[in-house]
Amino acid sequence: MKNPDTKRIGVLTSGGDCPGLNAVIRGVVRAAAERGWESIGFSDGYEGLLAPVRYRKLDPNGIDGIMPLGGTILGTTNRGRFAAKVGEGKKASIPKAILAEARETFEGLGLHALVCIGGDGSLSTALQLQKAGMPVVGVPKTIDNDLNATATTFGFDSAVEVVVDALDRLHTTAKSHKRLMVVEVMGRHAGWIALHGGLGGGADVVLIPEIPYHMDKLVQFVKNRTHDGFGSTMVVVAEGAKESGKSVSTKQAKLRTKGEVRLGGLGERLAEELEAATGQEARSVSLGHLQRGGTPSALDRILATRFGVGAVRLIEQRKFGHMVSYQNYHVGGVPIAKAVGTLKTVDPAGETVSAARSVGISFGDR
Ligand code: F6P
Repeated sequence: MKNPDTKRIGVLTSGGDCPGLNAVIRGVVRAAAERGWESIGFSDGYEGLLAPVRYRKLDPNGIDGIMPLGGTILGTTNRGRFAAKVGEGKKASIPKAILAEARETFEGLGLHALVCIGGDGSLSTALQLQKAGMPVVGVPKTIDNDLNATATTFGFDSAVEVVVDALDRLHTTAKSHKRLMVVEVMGRHAGWIALHGGLGGGADVVLIPEIPYHMDKLVQFVKNRTHDGFGSTMVVVAEGAKESGKSVSTKQAKLRTKGEVRLGGLGERLAEELEAATGQEARSVSLGHLQRGGTPSALDRILATRFGVGAVRLIEQRKFGHMVSYQNYHVGGVPIAKAVGTLKTVDPAGETVSAARSVGISFGDR
């Protein structure tokens, strides 16, 4: 007779990929196996729940060695029929028929719970599944570090390392050629990657969505640096940064698929404008998806593993509708609803921005 304590849980990765996803999957599968539970992984995010249903059994042997791998062995999407995030603060409702089909799959496979690993939009979808009768637990994921109710998420540290490494490399050309270098980094609504990357990589200017910049102040700052004998200037700009009174720079005039509009192009434009206004030669680099790719940092592997184990613990405690959260060096749980209402953005008056100003970084606002 089947042990009544045996559970079968599903796991899926949703939204943009991120270093550490595989470490979470490994944590979930291992912690589940330790309890005698079975795990199955759905392909391509929530899409795997819909016909043709795509899943595979996951056991500790079969996933051996996935921890250092970037991306997700399960596949993911930030588009498609479950896309719940359509813009800052704007959420879409998943059609009832889609939720009913997902529930049919869930029940047909005899699942006890579903671990949904994703960011703001994917966790909003998870809540809608929960309300439709599927017990879910969430694992917060975003390289942008903009999710509320958790001090940080895996993937952010790896992304910041990419930025710092890029700045270290770009400083050499900037200094040798006495150039202005503009580096565009990810961060749609929050400037965490730009701020931390700029601090760690010794940037001179950091432009973030939370602090609109003024072109005249930026130009004056660069001119002052030249006057003070600094040959080069390193500018880090978040893709979602805005010049005061203007809107974000997008790569798409309109959406081709459900989801969010693609940002980009600000770095290139800014380099041209700064070159024209200061007379100093400028170049731009967009780090784009390099920040989301490759092997996770040690810190992200550890956090992701703890998040995976924490998700299984939440299922054991029947804390459905909750997600794992990292607070005060401890992994616990919080209601998903607390994380998806508003984004965690950089506080312009906060200590990190103030420290950056104290080491001479300009935000283009004064
Ligand atoms: O939300 C995470 C993020 O990395 C954003 O910073 C960026 O705008 C977006 O994903 C890019 O997504 P895509 O892979 O669809 O281009």
